[in-house]
Amino acid sequence: MIFFLHFFICCITACFVLVHGQVQTGYISIDCGSPENFNYVDLDTGISYTSDGSFITTGVNKNISSLYAYPNNPILPQPLSDLRTFPQGDKNCYTLRPNGGKKSLNLIRATFMYGNYNGENKLPKFDLYLGVNLWSTIKFVNNSDVFTTEIISVALEDSYSVCLVNIGQGTPFISGLELRPVDRSIYEIAPGILGSLVLFQRLDIGYSNGSGRYADDVYDRIWSPYFSPLWDSLSTSLGIDISGNDYRAPSEVMRTAATPKIGTDSLEYSWNVSDSEAKFYVYMYFADVAVLRRNETREFNVSWNANLLFGNVRPRAYYMSTFYNLRALVGNEHKISIRRSVGANLPPILNAIEIFRVQEFSELATFSTDVDAIQSIKTTYKVNKNWVGDPCGPMNYSWEGVNCNYTNSNPPRIISINLSTSDLTGQIAPSIANLSSLETLNLSNNSLTGQIPEFLEKLSSLKIMDLRGNQLSGYVPESLLERSRSGLLTLRIDSQNLCDSCQNKKKEVIVPIVASILSFLILLLLLIIAWRNRRTRKTRKANTNEEVRSLESNNRQFTYAEVANMTNNFQTPIGKGGFGTVYLGQLKNGNQVAVKLLSTSSSQGYNEFQNEAELLMRVHHRNLASFVGYSHDNNKMALVYEFMANGNLKNYILDRSNHPLSWEMRLKIAIDAAQGLEYLHHGCRPAIIHRDVKSANILLSEKLDAKIADFGLSKGLPDDQTTHILTDVIGTTGYLDPEYRKSHNLNEKSDVYSFGIVLLELITGRPAIIKSMNHIHITEYVGAYLEKGEITSIIDAQMEGEFNLDSVWKAMEVAVACTRSTSSKRMTMSEVLTGLKACLEMELTRGSRNGSTRENQKMVGFRMDYSPEVYSMNFEVMTGPSGR
Ligand SMILES: *[C@@H]1O[C@H](CO)[C@@H](O)[C@H](O)[C@H]1NC(C)=O
Ligand SMILES: *[C@@H]1O[C@H](CO)[C@@H](O)[C@H](O)[C@H]1NC(C)=O
Ligand SMILES: *[C@@H]1O[C@H](CO)[C@@H](O)[C@H](O)[C@H]1NC(C)=O
Ligand SMILES: *[C@@H]1O[C@H](CO)[C@@H](O)[C@H](O)[C@H]1NC(C)=O
Ligand SMILES: *[C@@H]1O[C@H](CO)[C@@H](O)[C@H](O)[C@H]1NC(C)=O
Ligand SMILES: *[C@@H]1O[C@H](CO)[C@@H](O)[C@H](O)[C@H]1NC(C)=O
Ligand SMILES: *[C@@H]1O[C@H](CO)[C@@H](O)[C@H](O)[C@H]1NC(C)=O
Ligand SMILES: *[C@@H]1O[C@H](CO)[C@@H](O)[C@H](O)[C@H]1NC(C)=O
Ligand SMILES: *[C@@H]1O[C@H](CO)[C@@H](O)[C@H](O)[C@H]1NC(C)=O
Ligand SMILES: *[C@@H]1O[C@H](CO)[C@@H](O)[C@H](O)[C@H]1NC(C)=O
Repeated sequence: MIFFLHFFICCITACFVLVHGQVQTGYISIDCGSPENFNYVDLDTGISYTSDGSFITTGVNKNISSLYAYPNNPILPQPLSDLRTFPQGDKNCYTLRPNGGKKSLNLIRATFMYGNYNGENKLPKFDLYLGVNLWSTIKFVNNSDVFTTEIISVALEDSYSVCLVNIGQGTPFISGLELRPVDRSIYEIAPGILGSLVLFQRLDIGYSNGSGRYADDVYDRIWSPYFSPLWDSLSTSLGIDISGNDYRAPSEVMRTAATPKIGTDSLEYSWNVSDSEAKFYVYMYFADVAVLRRNETREFNVSWNANLLFGNVRPRAYYMSTFYNLRALVGNEHKISIRRSVGANLPPILNAIEIFRVQEFSELATFSTDVDAIQSIKTTYKVNKNWVGDPCGPMNYSWEGVNCNYTNSNPPRIISINLSTSDLTGQIAPSIANLSSLETLNLSNNSLTGQIPEFLEKLSSLKIMDLRGNQLSGYVPESLLERSRSGLLTLRIDSQNLCDSCQNKKKEVIVPIVASILSFLILLLLLIIAWRNRRTRKTRKANTNEEVRSLESNNRQFTYAEVANMTNNFQTPIGKGGFGTVYLGQLKNGNQVAVKLLSTSSSQGYNEFQNEAELLMRVHHRNLASFVGYSHDNNKMALVYEFMANGNLKNYILDRSNHPLSWEMRLKIAIDAAQGLEYLHHGCRPAIIHRDVKSANILLSEKLDAKIADFGLSKGLPDDQTTHILTDVIGTTGYLDPEYRKSHNLNEKSDVYSFGIVLLELITGRPAIIKSMNHIHITEYVGAYLEKGEITSIIDAQMEGEFNLDSVWKAMEVAVACTRSTSSKRMTMSEVLTGLKACLEMELTRGSRNGSTRENQKMVGFRMDYSPEVYSMNFEVMTGPSGR
């Protein structure tokens, strides 16, 4: 049984000493629930109390019912008249920072009195934790019962968390909380035991007049007067020297003692507990209260349950000594017996005794790196959640939105963070990368900006990352995409340059043929328009980059009236196709667009078309042709596209009368196109496969920036785990992946193959199928030369030898690596991009070393790469709408 203290009686002199002295050094004394900034000196004890403000942010202040308060209850200590209650959250914690910091030893005392503060007359029961370990369960006998619990504990960190945990049996509250620094050398427990000492009993033995709380107790311990009818009382009015050790039991307490009434009897003290595993430590204080005569001897043995604890103890007169057991006393029945030794002629004495029960700290605090990281996240984002105490512990009471992995012998690890809809701003915090066990990261629906940082790749256990609903930009780091592709990571992303449409299963797989046909035809028309405009409007100045940006931001659904308006009532038809006419248009901001008006007769596939239009609108990238918007008003449908001044790459290369493209320009175009594709493959989750990559689908702006166009045939992979899908073979002759054609297994490497063909076209200036050479395929044409280690004669003559040959060779290598017959041997678009950038770098440093180091170099293994199966292909129109 915990000994309850019900009275605090003031000692006037003590108050004086305390109020004016330095005795309270390092004390933290909180009157929980007192009005904000209300600091006062308690007249009963002389202790200076403060309000909760700087120790906790949660909770509600309440006053106890006047029935139990002063003046109805004149002896009620002032700190108990109010309390702080915690109706919100399962775990609420005070943070106490001891002066001594980490590793200091401190006594912490918590006091509770219900006092019917809420008028419910219902006694709550709840748990009190120190850090992650249970300290005590708080329960009451009646409304005026005062529950006090005290723990002596080493600070494992700079601060202690004193946490109140709601166990579903009433709202937790607290009345008072105190911390007292204790000398590190005392209250030792066996080194093998990990735990803290929770006060069981602290008794001032012998008659005592005092309050139990003495001003000369530097540790502010509260000593309960205790006396037995079997005992006689001894006392002295002289002071006791307590300097012998650092236990420093107050002289007031030491001045009284008890002896057995019958001198030959032993002095006994016993207690029982229900827990047979309970471990106890007993500290006994002795001081003789008189100087013995020569013929007198006081000597005794102290035993516990008949086991000798200390033999031949001879207390010194007026001088305190302390005895305690080195090994824990374990069991549910405990009896301390103090019996005089054989040679002694005075009865044994006892001045004071403290009994502590070990509260074992079996729970470990969260892995400290995780704690530092999440604390840093909390600070960085000013997280407005009840994030106090240990992030993971106690078990089942982790921070809101934080989940942990609890393993038996290791500290808990944070494995999941849900900070969705938490008003986060700024960039993704670097400290997240230190949460090395993190499996789920949800930062969705915040206002995060900046890039998706590379450092997230350090999170090797990450399985799910949700970044939707933020303003993130840029690319998804390659390593994350890699993991995502191999099914290890589920990425949920959507911001500007990141694709989200892929998330929607309805939209991602069903790409209707009708829509495909429409898109294709529209694109064709667009190309015609572009082509015409390039010729007729060379003088017109349009800043392509700006245009693109504004186009993207205007991307939307138009009304029919708006469409009519932007085309000046369909005044300037610039093309005609099977599904309608294309008109030149102008947006309000002056940007030119191509508007395709679908004839009403082709209303079939209306919904599919709309879905497709929505998908196109959401895929945004600098190197993907912009789809400005669409209209489906009045049963009329229109598509609005970005206007590309320089037509498509195929025509640009084939039109030999054109300004010839330099090698540098060709590389830049290739890099642009590769970036667009890389985005579709790796920036979209799940990946989008274009399926119709060809030079005719690469559009060129006024400044010859390249963009991939026509996603009419594009397909999203159904989910992250799927690496390929079986489809009907669709694509364009000459660019079609031979493996896909045979197996119908579609994956992004099919696009890589097609891109390789485009690259060969850029290098050689020849089309994919060379009509003038008996319709041979460009790989056949190139392969014949490469086998001989010959490259110069197949490089497009239009470049007039103005290039770094190493750069061209390297580009050729990339092209070869793209067009390998086995898809698994082909590069990824990311690798292609890296290779091409290296080519560009070489080309840009040209000049000093115009000659080549590899003029006659052979391309090792080339024959193998172009295995005969490729050549045996019959290059005729494939199934699908876009052939020829
Ligand atoms: C509690 O009582 C004090 C003194 O009467 C008063 O100042 C304070 O506002 C009360 N607090 C609450 C929470 O009612
Ligand atoms: C409340 O319980 C305490 C402890 O058992 C007891 O001393 C006290 O008399 C009780 N008070 C009332 C009003 O019942
Ligand atoms: C107890 O206190 C009373 C009054 O406060 C005093 O008269 C008496 O002498 C004290 N007794 C002891 C043993 O200190
Ligand atoms: C402890 O239990 C024993 C055996 O049941 C009993 O004899 C003894 O009186 C108990 N002691 C106390 C303090 O309750
Ligand atoms: C010690 O001697 C004194 C007389 O000097 C006597 O009164 C007393 O009883 C003796 N004490 C014991 C314990 O024998
Ligand atoms: C007291 O303890 C001593 C050892 O310190 C031992 O020799 C002696 O027998 C004990 N006496 C009794 C009565 O147990
Ligand atoms: C935590 O919750 C689980 C499931 O509810 C339960 O099995 C386990 O005992 C709880 N652990 C603690 C320490 O309460
Ligand atoms: C928890 O950690 C253990 C040990 O590291 C590991 O085996 C287990 O898979 C983890 N559990 C979860 C849910 O991460
Ligand atoms: C994550 O937090 C949000 C907002 O608090 C909540 O709506 C959502 O259910 C949480 N997700 C999970 C998996 O707990
Ligand atoms: C990550 O942890 C290391 C080591 O604990 C620390 O030095 C580093 O500052 C931490 N990084 C961040 C961003 O918090």
